[in-house]
Amino acid sequence: MKPISRRSFLERSGTGMAAAAAIPALEAPTFQSRPLPAEERGREIHLKVNGKDHRLEVEDHWTLAEVLRDHLGLTGTRVGCDRGECGACTVLLDGKSLYSCSYLAVWAEGKEISTVEGLAEGTQLDPLQEAFIEHDGPQCGFCTSGQLMSAKALLNSNPNPTEAEARQALAGNICRCSNFNRYLEAVLATSGKGGSRG
Ligand code: FES
Ligand code: FES
Repeated sequence: MKPISRRSFLERSGTGMAAAAAIPALEAPTFQSRPLPAEERGREIHLKVNGKDHRLEVEDHWTLAEVLRDHLGLTGTRVGCDRGECGACTVLLDGKSLYSCSYLAVWAEGKEISTVEGLAEGTQLDPLQEAFIEHDGPQCGFCTSGQLMSAKALLNSNPNPTEAEARQALAGNICRCSNFNRYLEAVLATSGKGGSRG
């Protein structure tokens, strides 16, 4: 069955809700689904996520974050600002870090995506994850998956970054708990030890 997007849900229910607000004495609105217009019907895309192939029918306006979280169940990718400012939604696209809230799923056709769920192998954590724990990085944890994926992208391309390079790589990931320096220490501790798994 085709998943319902926020947009199609709101459009389908909007008419009934407006009528109920205008005439409160009327009985509760009935929600009647209507077929989506042809231009809103999904198109099929192929994604490889954490090494696994997926074929999905998506609507043009769905973001990659939405598809990962709501349609593939990969909720480790967080959505904070939903507008490309906080970095909580960072994933890797063909090995490079990307704000998945600001990238349409259709643009990811045929790409390889890595999310935080793909870092550990079974119960074996990635060295970056271990370092994050050792250095007491996560506080509330909301930003952690984004920090991890930005750090992963850095160490994949530069296994021995300088402190300035590590700071730069994490600059797009905001930590509301002000624990940025702990994350930085963890990344620097991981580098030079052979880096994280590729
Ligand atoms: S949720 Fe994507 S940058 Fe904040
Ligand atoms: S650990 Fe709370 S936002 Fe970073």
